[in-house]
Amino acid sequence: MTYLDNAATSWPKPPAVPAAMRGMIEHAGGNPGRSGHRLAMKAGETVYACRENLASLFGVSDPLRICFTSNATESLNLAIKGSLEPGDHVVFSAMEHNSVWRPLRELERCGVRISMVPAGANGIVHCDSIVSQLRRDTRLIVLIHASNVNGALNPVEEVGRIARDRNVRFLVDAAQTAGMVPIDVEAMKIDLLAFPGHKGLLGPQGTGGLYVHDSIRLQPLKHGGTGSDSDSPVQPEFAPDRYESGTLNTPGIAGLNEGVKYLLRHGVAEVQRRERALTERLLAGLAEIQHIHVYGPANAGERTGVISFNIEGRDPVVAADELDRTFDIACRAGLHCAWLAHRTQGTDQTGTVRFSLGALSTEQDVDAGLAAVRTLAQKGKR
Ligand SMILES: Cc1ncc(COP(=O)(O)O)c(C=O)c1O
Repeated sequence: MTYLDNAATSWPKPPAVPAAMRGMIEHAGGNPGRSGHRLAMKAGETVYACRENLASLFGVSDPLRICFTSNATESLNLAIKGSLEPGDHVVFSAMEHNSVWRPLRELERCGVRISMVPAGANGIVHCDSIVSQLRRDTRLIVLIHASNVNGALNPVEEVGRIARDRNVRFLVDAAQTAGMVPIDVEAMKIDLLAFPGHKGLLGPQGTGGLYVHDSIRLQPLKHGGTGSDSDSPVQPEFAPDRYESGTLNTPGIAGLNEGVKYLLRHGVAEVQRRERALTERLLAGLAEIQHIHVYGPANAGERTGVISFNIEGRDPVVAADELDRTFDIACRAGLHCAWLAHRTQGTDQTGTVRFSLGALSTEQDVDAGLAAVRTLAQKGKR
């Protein structure tokens, strides 16, 4: 099988990932932060090691500011709902995923005011458009780092500067960049970084996290047992316990730790360099095929390896199904949980076929994808 669906979840994982998950269940399966016996302590050490490794990956000085969640959606909900109250104003972009748009629309019903900033047709959001929407009561800016529809990369560092200068909280949705594009929360002035564990970080599904700047105190999404301050009726004030009620996904975190270690060993800049070369190969190959329309920035330097396209006259969902059944190519088609982004690029009625590369993608994967698309496009309209 040729796997070109890394934007949905990365596959395959480095072999150390499933090995560590199995090892955690078989040899260290206590409940971290609860009991004091050896199995619990061992699990706790792995959880802390994963926090430390994530902190080094993202330039975070205190690993305890990394909070585990079950996916990027939960991280975004915690950051958004934990930041905003009725009467607050929030600015977000027309490229956001439903995991930002839907919580914001929900909060709007409760009195939060929302302003959407347009993006260019290629999906890139301009800083000036963000500045023009800022108001005295703006509490939060939410920006997708790179689009899950067309790979467009946003100027996060510049927006971070603007937000910090105006004392507005800055949340970055790094679902499509964590582990694939270098991120330094200090240098980029990011206050809240939401990331999945199961995409670019190469961990298993059911893992994710949120970095919370140490000046920020969010309202938790969940309240309950944390293994700390157990005599208190209220949630602890300190991170990560404030945000991590309930037993963690320890086997998942053990796997995620190995994914992050893989990235620290190879370097995210090197992963990005490799992926850029493959992106250029894929874009150049698609440009040579007739009857193909590719979306997003043409320049690989302005995008990630998430490439949306359509084959003239073919329904993208039917095309993806044929790519799977006839050519053994795994990809995704449709609206990719981001209707807003499709509306921005003019594909909200049709959706697109999406090929997405990952740290373990190869030239052979790209060439197999191109050969299959060439054949489909030559077969004519369906
Ligand atoms: C940009 C973006 N944000 C958020 C999410 C949600 O991630 P998760 O599936 O980990 O909840 C995704 C998933 O594809 C995404 O691409």
